Amino acid sequence: MKTKKIEIGSNVYDIDIKNLSQDEIKELQELLYQNRIIVVKNQSLTEQDYVDFAYKFGFPEAYLQSHYNHPDYPLIFVSSNVKKEDGRQLGVARTGGYWHSDTAFEKEPKIITMLMPKVLPKISRRTTRFIDMSAVYNALPAELLEQIEEEDFIHSGRYRYKVRPEDAGLDIAEILELIDYYQPPVHHPAVIEHPVTGEKIIYGSRGFTIGISNKDREEQHNILKSIFDFAETNDFVKEVQWEMGDLIIWDNRFLVHSSGRAKAPTDNIHEAVAKEEETMMYRITMKDAHPLYAAKAEAVEAFAS
Ligand SMILES: [Fe+2]
Repeated sequence: MKTKKIEIGSNVYDIDIKNLSQDEIKELQELLYQNRIIVVKNQSLTEQDYVDFAYKFGFPEAYLQSHYNHPDYPLIFVSSNVKKEDGRQLGVARTGGYWHSDTAFEKEPKIITMLMPKVLPKISRRTTRFIDMSAVYNALPAELLEQIEEEDFIHSGRYRYKVRPEDAGLDIAEILELIDYYQPPVHHPAVIEHPVTGEKIIYGSRGFTIGISNKDREEQHNILKSIFDFAETNDFVKEVQWEMGDLIIWDNRFLVHSSGRAKAPTDNIHEAVAKEEETMMYRITMKDAHPLYAAKAEAVEAFAS
């Protein structure tokens, strides 16, 4: 296994994930926690190979909204705007074009995300952009950090829900109620400690973090805006450019991400969507062998020993 540092994380060469020993899988997992993200290069995988590897690497689970998932391999979430010959499409188009940590709006978020490209655009570059939120924690002005350190962030996917044909006839307020019914907002600590590396991380994103515990509405809005404005700058935003054969794996505790689709030069969203090139990505999300964060009691114990 050879590795090379990239803008964020490391490329991994000279392995075939179809034939890894237990020790090599462990090595890959350690590499992931140290690097936040790894890009395993030059893989040639069927859907079944991909699923098999996911079960060896962690504890994968299918996404809760089943229309996102591959009809024959429900573990695979398909992000695609490719139209099939019958005009229908596999999965859902234009997912994740905003800053988020995958499934942070769940009580027990999936920790690890894997992505594998199936179709890449011919003209524009296809990238995923990342922000390391432990770097943001370390650099955040103290007066901002003080205001969130002991609080929870509140998360929901409500503003990123994609309206479906069966929602026709509902008004937007009713759709929001329905989302909260199926997926009520959840609390996670605003600052978490990584259970493996012990690093502190701000666990929040502009896409999914909708509030802060124990603050009035205006304060919540102002603090969240200040944190995300601070994070979403060239100092922190890093990019991974996709190539066919890549398998990209990251730790959602550390990283927020946004899909780097090329945007057509227009403010009209319908026109911009119509001009987007075809892409298709296969995603699998999973838990690993550790909790989302080191429990406070454990952290105190570790400090004492
Ligand atoms: Fe995502």
